[in-house]
Amino acid sequence: MKIAVLASEGAPYVKSGGLGDVMEALPSALARIEGNEVVLVLPYYNKIKYSPLYTVAELSTFHTTLGWRQLYTGVMELQGRTDGVRVIFLDNEYYFGGRDSTIYGHGDDSERYAYFSKAALDALAAIGFIPDIIQCNDWQTALVPVYLKSIYWASFPNTKCMYTIHNIEYQGWASGSFYGDVLGLPWDLRGTLDMGGSVNMMKGAIEMADLVTTVSETYSRELMYPYYAHGLDGVISSAAWKLTGITNGIDVNTFNPETDPALPAHYNADTFVSGKAACKAALQEEVGLPNRPDTPLMVMVTRLAGHKGLDLLCYIARTLLNEHDCQLIILGTGEEKFENFFRELAAEYPDRVAAQITFNLGLAARMYAGADIYLMPSKSEPCGLSQMNAMHYGTVPVVHATGGLRDTVPPADERGEGGLGFTFQSYNGEDFLYAVTRCLNLYHNDREGFRRLQHTDMCQDFSWNVPAGRYMELFRRMVSS
Ligand code: GLC
Repeated sequence: MKIAVLASEGAPYVKSGGLGDVMEALPSALARIEGNEVVLVLPYYNKIKYSPLYTVAELSTFHTTLGWRQLYTGVMELQGRTDGVRVIFLDNEYYFGGRDSTIYGHGDDSERYAYFSKAALDALAAIGFIPDIIQCNDWQTALVPVYLKSIYWASFPNTKCMYTIHNIEYQGWASGSFYGDVLGLPWDLRGTLDMGGSVNMMKGAIEMADLVTTVSETYSRELMYPYYAHGLDGVISSAAWKLTGITNGIDVNTFNPETDPALPAHYNADTFVSGKAACKAALQEEVGLPNRPDTPLMVMVTRLAGHKGLDLLCYIARTLLNEHDCQLIILGTGEEKFENFFRELAAEYPDRVAAQITFNLGLAARMYAGADIYLMPSKSEPCGLSQMNAMHYGTVPVVHATGGLRDTVPPADERGEGGLGFTFQSYNGEDFLYAVTRCLNLYHNDREGFRRLQHTDMCQDFSWNVPAGRYMELFRRMVSS
């Protein structure tokens, strides 16, 4: 099957969050399946263009029409990727070059990604790759199904389009005039993109795609409710017949405690007790905490954003520290109020808390490995990858049972049996505190039970093999319909 995957980010070239990880591993897993040809299309950001790591060959150049604009597009193919995925970068200096190193957050983001979505279709046609399936992701490529089923229908008569929602919070809003000025779409599609007089690109994608998926089963059900859908619950409910959830995997080759070059010691499910003890001691030293092998070490690697459940952690932090023997490390940047809260907490409990207000992938890996407990009380979580990374590194998760956290962390009982971690159902500080307390009690009172749970976590298959198979099932269904 010929599959084109379109996205605004993909590791290792460019990544701002979980989408980037998925765009590294999913195309690769699809390419491993016999009979597939996979092309991944990404913007040619400056960061990639001027990196000494990547060599490209120019396949084609042409002009992409966007409303009244004629825009240069260069189609650059990455050389030397060995897993069978063809990586195509779309070059346009005006939209993707000449800016600072941040990929999002520019005033013309709507226009940049409208351009990318349209230019990607031009590029596939120009290189003669007419896919059976286009899989596109989040608001940045939401216009792909809209263009595909209208202006590009004649070039791609048999191509089916899957639209995947990784996070419904960011929908690609633009003013009403954007429709005529930028998009250049036929007027009869105006209603498809319209929301209260403005343009909502994600709405257009949900309506026009052949199938819509989200990144976990629970999240696909949650999206029917206003609490989770950020205004799109009605649109989602009308599209319920074509909506499915496929829970992400993690890249078990990159995230592997036996080989991860970031770690000071390596281990597997049989050797984790000594391996993790060495990682823990090194981690405590690295962040300036005293080396206490028998004090449970809790960590959180996260964007410091409200929906990650930080308000709950702030609310319980002092009680937790005052009532229990434990240490806490936070890694991440984000909202100032949270950054300051954790800095102050670290100053107040210098032996117990370390606040690493920075972005550091190596330290993140050392935290997954060196910690005993991973906290993830997200208010909502489409899938979440770090709870799986943590479990894969033998660190027990404590999570809010929502979205992908609910699907990947079945609850264990007080003895650590029957599940993979500790969970709480209702989003409030007391219930979170109770879940953390149960986990700490297991650690303190029954270390063997805690280790059995760590071992069970490490033995789970979080690889992309299963989800890639589910994507293929849906692709086949789309092609034969
Ligand atoms: C988004 C979601 C996260 C998910 C990731 C990859 O970042 O917020 O839950 O794991 O996309 O699908």
